[in-house]
Amino acid sequence: MGLDPQDRLPAAGQDGRGGRSPLTPARYTFATLVDPHEELPPSEISSLRYWAKIAEKMGVEIEPITRKDLAKLANYDALFIRETTSISNHTYRFARRAQQEGMPVIDDPLSMIRCTNKVYLNELMAYNKVPVPPTVMIAGTSDLELAAQTLGFPLVLKIPDSSFSRGVKKCGNFEELKTLATEWLEDSDLLIAQKFIPTEYDWRVGVLGGQPLFAVHYLMAKKHWQIVNHKASGKPDQGGIKTFTLKETPPHVVDTAVKAARCIGDGLYGVDLKETKDGVFVIEVNDNPNLDHGWEDSGEKDEVWVRLTQWFLERLDRPGR
Ligand SMILES: Nc1ncnc2c1ncn2[C@@H]1O[C@H](COP(=O)(O)OP(=O)(O)O)[C@@H](O)[C@H]1O
Ligand SMILES: [Mg+2]
Repeated sequence: MGLDPQDRLPAAGQDGRGGRSPLTPARYTFATLVDPHEELPPSEISSLRYWAKIAEKMGVEIEPITRKDLAKLANYDALFIRETTSISNHTYRFARRAQQEGMPVIDDPLSMIRCTNKVYLNELMAYNKVPVPPTVMIAGTSDLELAAQTLGFPLVLKIPDSSFSRGVKKCGNFEELKTLATEWLEDSDLLIAQKFIPTEYDWRVGVLGGQPLFAVHYLMAKKHWQIVNHKASGKPDQGGIKTFTLKETPPHVVDTAVKAARCIGDGLYGVDLKETKDGVFVIEVNDNPNLDHGWEDSGEKDEVWVRLTQWFLERLDRPGR
């Protein structure tokens, strides 16, 4: 979608030049870091425009910036990173710079580091008694026997820093496990083997500032066991979404998600959980969760965007800041 990064994101009915009614001057301007060409961004530009309309009523102007704008980051009051984050690209540098400038920032650098590694996440969850699927760390092919005995087949094998389901595969028997593990161990010193827990959906609970923000089901892609199906060619298949209000969401799902997110920090997280008759299991905590208008906000509606704005405002208005 065409986006001129110099453009403000004016609310509908405005003059399109960022003009505001003089009666409600913006107290703050927040930057959203976006890549207009990203195929699967965490928020579409249209969703950020929607947020801008709501934020404007709260005295906040939202302005998109891109990776070229690091030098002018300090001109803004806060930063919301809405590109897919990585600790090895500019998104991490933006997060660091914002923090150094004392700006409230989502995602903050520490959350990015903590969420990026599934080995660390798994151990952090286990240490804090957050339920996770039975897991065996694989440091070499000699660990495979233990994984097979402990977890049975099929099991799920993961590369620690994968995302979008790319480094998460199912192994049906020992031969498959050995072949895949041998291949992946060439690039990664550690792998994760996990008991396969099939469900028809993943719970995705958004948590902001240690409080639940939204809950949805991400449904599995057609005839697949994951919510994204990367095929040999063409666009990946994605499953749909089912809407819930937080009130309708089982309390133990919400509570487990909140507990998991609080282990990471007080920013914005998307917690993935599997609900089974044996209880709920946290699959992962994502920094940089998807947040789109008409999707993740379909249960809690505008409250999602209002609270997002408030999260930043509370930090900006803190006494002694
Ligand atoms: N132990 C498991 N059992 C069944 N499905 C799993 C398991 N672990 C992950 N998955 C599924 O695989 C997909 C990706 O897994 P995840 O660990 O979240 O990695 P990614 O970071 O790539 O999203 C999700 O759809 C998730 O439900
Ligand atoms: Mg995931």
